[in-house]
Amino acid sequence: MQSDDLKREWHNLSPAWIKEAREGRNPSRNGLLDKPVIETCGNVTGLRILDCGCGEGRFCRILVGRGARYVLGLDLCEPMIEAARAWQSERDAYRVADVQDLHFLEGETFDLTVSYLNQCDLPDFEANNREVFRVLKSGRRFIVPNLHPMRSAVGAWHRNHDGEKQHVIVDHYFDESERRWKMMGALTCTRFIKTFSTRSRAQYQSLSSRPATLLWHRRQATHRHQ
Ligand SMILES: C[S@@+](CC[C@H](N)C(=O)[O-])C[C@H]1O[C@@H](n2cnc3c(N)ncnc32)[C@H](O)[C@@H]1O
Repeated sequence: MQSDDLKREWHNLSPAWIKEAREGRNPSRNGLLDKPVIETCGNVTGLRILDCGCGEGRFCRILVGRGARYVLGLDLCEPMIEAARAWQSERDAYRVADVQDLHFLEGETFDLTVSYLNQCDLPDFEANNREVFRVLKSGRRFIVPNLHPMRSAVGAWHRNHDGEKQHVIVDHYFDESERRWKMMGALTCTRFIKTFSTRSRAQYQSLSSRPATLLWHRRQATHRHQ
């Protein structure tokens, strides 16, 4: 799939996405992920932070609220960045950019990087890893909440003898593939599904020449809305 097509998908999704984020109606974030991601970020007071695929800036604002000195949010989708700028303070800034190529950022200039449900959107997540580890200061952390492959797996209904739906059979969810997913009023979103071991091996390889520690936290989603 071409980059322009992926960009168009997010452009189409953006009005509904921005509305939902601003009304605080995204349960994957509010009810499940925010708490562990904030805990994993730790004390951000005074830090210079990069948020890859920041959307309309929700998590950047959370980091500013928790004392970050400066947060730069990057996103491919212009309407998301326009919305983020409309609510920006003097400590956050936003730019339209593809996070697979961060050539406009100097090396070793960030204390922390976050990719909050964004690597699953990238055809080349390894390029993003390489770029992030280049712009991070030595020994600093890259926090990557990501989707479990189960969440975009397609299943078929198992029915009883009367044809009534019993349960959905989900299989082959560890197949690595490009998956098209419907959300927010049946708009299409393409996701690039990789297993945890593929992603963690790639992270390890991008780090091989630099001092760092990889920490992995696993949390199970309790519902399938995103
Ligand atoms: C699932 S949303 C997550 C938004 C935000 N991080 C959050 O958690 O609310 C994914 C975001 O990644 C952006 N995105 C997708 N591909 C991108 C790319 N190659 N470079 C930068 N942003 C991208 C989309 O425009 C979208 O805003």
